[in-house]
Amino acid sequence: MATGSPIDMDAKSTPNRTPSQRPPQRGISTASVHAGELRQKPGDSITDPIFCASTFTFASTDDLLDYVEGRSQREEYGRYGNPNEKSVEGKLAELDNAESAIVYSSGMAAIVGLLMAKLNAGDEIVFFDQCYHRSREFCAKHLARFGVVTRQVPTGDFAAMEAAIKPATKMLVSESPTNPHLTTVDLEQFAAIGKAHEVETLIDATLATPYNIRPIDWGVDYVLHSATKYMGGHNDLLAGVICGSKEKLESVRSLRGILGGVNSPHNLYLLERGLKTFELRMQRHNENGQRLAEFLDAHPRVARVYYPGLASHPSHDTAVAQMKGFGGLITFEVADADWKETSRIVDAAQIPRIAPSLGGVESLIEQPLVMSYFSYSPEQRQQFGIADNMIRYSCGIENGDDLIADLKQALEA
Ligand SMILES: Cc1ncc(COP(=O)(O)O)c(C=O)c1O
Repeated sequence: MATGSPIDMDAKSTPNRTPSQRPPQRGISTASVHAGELRQKPGDSITDPIFCASTFTFASTDDLLDYVEGRSQREEYGRYGNPNEKSVEGKLAELDNAESAIVYSSGMAAIVGLLMAKLNAGDEIVFFDQCYHRSREFCAKHLARFGVVTRQVPTGDFAAMEAAIKPATKMLVSESPTNPHLTTVDLEQFAAIGKAHEVETLIDATLATPYNIRPIDWGVDYVLHSATKYMGGHNDLLAGVICGSKEKLESVRSLRGILGGVNSPHNLYLLERGLKTFELRMQRHNENGQRLAEFLDAHPRVARVYYPGLASHPSHDTAVAQMKGFGGLITFEVADADWKETSRIVDAAQIPRIAPSLGGVESLIEQPLVMSYFSYSPEQRQQFGIADNMIRYSCGIENGDDLIADLKQALEA
């Protein structure tokens, strides 16, 4: 045990560890198809109708009194809830083995909603530094205006994280795996540090999804997903979700009703529809991710591959110990290539479209230098580990043989 540390800093990830909580009662697809839905629906429809309602009517004042005095559960006004939202939240909570889920208009709205509800002026928050850059920007630039202090420590450095915890620290934040370096964080150790210091913990598990890991089972307090990615899965909507215990999320739900970052009934229906095939899609994303990563790893034009399913990735052991699969996102660096030669390979790929985002059925490709990090200085890009010769590839659900053949011709053209 490290001196002065309440947890065992030397603990290594051992394969086949099991999470502490009871596994969910039913399979992922059974939950994603049925959870949150009424068995018999309005109009006897097998699918949920889209409730295009900004407000919900009361038959009488007695009906209203039943609602305000807590004798009936129903909707009141669209900013506080909608039946389509209830269905989706039921699915997302069960998928993450959480008591409760709150859906937002985007992943960013979800993290902003959680942090605004949980932090007060004078509080501090500690981030692992590979977290989604907009989340860190929100904390460093905007929460700072409300007197919240953000500290960043190197990803996976638990000793640095513990050292950064002060009496004012209220939240520890990490992503796992991270984007675009695919670093996997030992969630058991992360949660243990939070518990030992009585600080809440948040994991952005957008890249993993509950198919590959359920952070709540490992003791983490809150899980965030950009449901824009794998959960929606079809590159056709923006959505975000925070999962956690009912009690901890009460104040978060209440603030969402004030901030108003809710999603539209149409989008919620699309998200529900996307979730029905969640497990099937994730199986293909995982398979394509692993196959493409192995292909790239063996290709002479590729200098380095970041994928947690490869033994060469520094956090491979942690990933194997905690995750079922490693997702569809791969980052690689082209050997002996400047930014121009790298963009030539991006342009030569015929199947993936050039776009930001990930997790949809269509494969996407991008060069971080000219996409998300274009406005940053070379020094900042170096600090974030964004190399000029880096390509990020989000595998869709196309056939793996075709994706590999296409990437091969792009690398060798
Ligand atoms: C890891 C991660 N978290 C959060 C977000 C924000 O999600 P959204 O785009 O749905 O607001 C993103 C978006 O790219 C992301 O990649």
